[in-house]
Amino acid sequence: MLDVQKTANNEMADAAPHPQEARTIRREDYRPPAWFVPEVHLDFQLGAEQTVVKSRLDVRRSKSAKYQEPLILDGDDLLPVSVRVDGESWTDWTLVEGALHLPLTGASHIVEITVEIDPSTNTQLMGLYASGGMLCTQCEAQGFRRITFFPDRPDILSRYTVRMEGSKADYPVLLCNGDKTDAGDADGGRHWAEWVDPWPKPSYLFALVAGDLVANNDSFTTRSGKEVELNIWVRDGDLPRTGHAMKALKDSMRWDEQVYGREYDLQLFNIVAVSDFNMGAMENKGLNIFNSRYILADPEVATDADFDGIEGVVAHEYFHNWSGNRVTCRDWFQLSLKEGFTVFRDQSFSADMGSQALKRIEDVRILRAAQFPEDAGPLAHPIRPESYQEISNFYTATVYNKGAEVIRMMHSLMGADRFRKGTDLYFDRHDGEAATCEDFVVAMEDGGDADLRQFRSWYETPGTPKVSARLSHDPQSGTATLNLSQQVARTGEKPEPSQMVIPLRTALLDPDSGEHEGEELLVLDKPEQSFQFEGQTEHPILSINRGFSAPIIMESSQTPEELAFLSTHDDDPFARFEAMQQLMTNYLTARVTGTPADRDIVLQAVGAALSDESIDRAFLAELILLPSEAFLGDQMVVVDPEAIHEAREKLRGKIAVQFERKFRRLYAQCTPGEFSLSAEARANRKLRNVCLAYIAGSQADDAAALASDQFADADNMTAKQGALSVLSHMEDKDRGWAFDDFYNTYRDNALVLDKWFTLQSLSQRGDTVKRVKALAGHPDFTMSNPNRVRALYGSFTANPVRFHDASGEGYRLIADMVIHLDAQNPQTAARFIPPLGRWRRYERGRAELMRTALEKIAATPDLSKDVMEQVSKSLA
Ligand code: PHE
Ligand code: ZN
Repeated sequence: MLDVQKTANNEMADAAPHPQEARTIRREDYRPPAWFVPEVHLDFQLGAEQTVVKSRLDVRRSKSAKYQEPLILDGDDLLPVSVRVDGESWTDWTLVEGALHLPLTGASHIVEITVEIDPSTNTQLMGLYASGGMLCTQCEAQGFRRITFFPDRPDILSRYTVRMEGSKADYPVLLCNGDKTDAGDADGGRHWAEWVDPWPKPSYLFALVAGDLVANNDSFTTRSGKEVELNIWVRDGDLPRTGHAMKALKDSMRWDEQVYGREYDLQLFNIVAVSDFNMGAMENKGLNIFNSRYILADPEVATDADFDGIEGVVAHEYFHNWSGNRVTCRDWFQLSLKEGFTVFRDQSFSADMGSQALKRIEDVRILRAAQFPEDAGPLAHPIRPESYQEISNFYTATVYNKGAEVIRMMHSLMGADRFRKGTDLYFDRHDGEAATCEDFVVAMEDGGDADLRQFRSWYETPGTPKVSARLSHDPQSGTATLNLSQQVARTGEKPEPSQMVIPLRTALLDPDSGEHEGEELLVLDKPEQSFQFEGQTEHPILSINRGFSAPIIMESSQTPEELAFLSTHDDDPFARFEAMQQLMTNYLTARVTGTPADRDIVLQAVGAALSDESIDRAFLAELILLPSEAFLGDQMVVVDPEAIHEAREKLRGKIAVQFERKFRRLYAQCTPGEFSLSAEARANRKLRNVCLAYIAGSQADDAAALASDQFADADNMTAKQGALSVLSHMEDKDRGWAFDDFYNTYRDNALVLDKWFTLQSLSQRGDTVKRVKALAGHPDFTMSNPNRVRALYGSFTANPVRFHDASGEGYRLIADMVIHLDAQNPQTAARFIPPLGRWRRYERGRAELMRTALEKIAATPDLSKDVMEQVSKSLA
């Protein structure tokens, strides 16, 4: 690729700032654009090694601009081959930090620019790149500036007309946003297509795909009777694996009409699956581009979790058509406006398609695994950040998942009807605009008749609030008093921590029957508050934050007996799950710190769950699962991964031995019949895997044989993966053959091979670091495919006891990998910093080794902005 710094033709070209002094962009510095670009024409002469991009921009000076600002067109790694203004060749331009500055004096101009780019060397996977023989784009957040010079900011909305031309043999299919308006053959075995997108959009929603693809073609009739053509484009052999994604798409289209009143607005909706992709998927207008792992599935190669992932991500990207595209973001600080809201929408959709309770447990598990640690560490930020150096680093669990929790709280506070009135007004009022989080909140207030003044603190406050709850009881008056208080982490930017509005769904359970007289929504919005409940003859049992109505850490002094009671009696499934988790967590953290704790009550609670015939099997599987080692670590002031691992394994072994007969019986009862995706069949598969893991945990002699049989007999990936996971921790004589068999069967399927890498990285065996190093040299390993990198290294950082090996070998392995990957793909490389960045929480020896690994990265010359920002914040 061209190096702009060395080849710029102008002495005014500034050197790019050294990454260590990377510029900080602040929310308060937002200024409206000085120029608009209502119309864009693009012409692509496509080629893998050279693509020529000609643009014709209709630029208009903003009427409110006070000064004659030059037209500034962002560029990244681009050089103009030619520049014309109003039809004349134009040489009066400069390149400043990659951007093209044109000192134009009129109120409107036509600017025409030609650039040449090389997709084949684009290893960042941002802009136009080659993947598996096709050409595709990724523009969010700032990839469009790698395709052509443009004011690459989301508050510039333009109408796009695109002509693309390429080799008919290499790229028989040519796709872009909107509708195809014309097509034809050209000289030299080439052909072309013209696409017009009638909806003005920001540049980050631009997309183009050229490749040898086939489509699963279908259609959907909207509620007003418009027929929409649907296509899911994949490589030839993958067509049979697109059915689930197609069903998810049609379900999403119907759901958004029913629940939000939102209809699709083009005649065509295309999805393309690509194998090299930094993220999950992208909502480009009318042309969603997906990581193939969120499209392709059949029972032989996909687990039930994979099926769910596909349903959720297809819905997420589809829902963006309204929450993101029709109403977009004014600037990147508003990212949660589209992402938090859209995650909430996809969560609600998945819950409606399956089980509310299981979906909520999953959502909270993700929040606690990814977002709580982020919010408690050096990279904490509000859901609407105040500043950034590299926006790619802010596609976080905070912006997405905590953002979704904030919307969910509005939903709880307002109720479904008023919430819907609010979103209706939001979509009406801001249709075709680039909006802010504040616009959203105002629309919810106006449309939904709500007062969200104090609620706004959720947008500006980082950290997970802590709530403490104390319930007392006066038998004389029959009054129960609930004392609540909240603690919000003090942040550097604000003198006084804000008080949050915390909606807590609460019920008081009768201590004998477990019944209650109805749930109440208590709203905690002061530092301390008490609530009284009359008519309580006995001391009730407190069930609070039911359904996880607020994303907080609850510190209640409930006794093990009360938690055990809730784990068997609570009628809110989430609360029931939560009580069991809390009971187990309290026991395990006590064991790790050497405090006495009652194990029997934990065993009794698990035993009660196992003998409760009324429990759904999928829910039972969740209920008896031990909290993860990572979660346990998060509960401790100083994390000792080995001690946590030992304590947890010991409890697992004890439960396994105590209930071995039960687990075996359940295992047999869950034997699958004909494969189906029904809730019942899935529940059986899930519980069966959990039972298998417990049976193995009992150190039973036949555990390896049982897992091997399950592996060999399985007709679906959920059972195969469950068995292989159990085997992965065993000795080579037990596990070797299965891994070999798996490899030989699936070596040609990249997505399944990822699982093969993942399961080895997640092994608890003492030699896992060595094994990961060896796998990095495996012929099927490549650093240029992000899925493969995540499968091997991402999984490894999620293996607490091995990543945190006391030798520090795991840390060094990741540091060296990051340094290597950064030169190729900064965005994916930067995602590996947070696991090291939490070094302050670990015991001294490990903390020191983690910090050393970060310092080694920091000392590497020519680090990307992406990695530099994360590393310097982690060391600060
Ligand atoms: N906007 C995408 C989504 O959440 C995520 C994404 C961001 C994809 C940046 C690629 C690059 O749906
Ligand atoms: Zn999104």
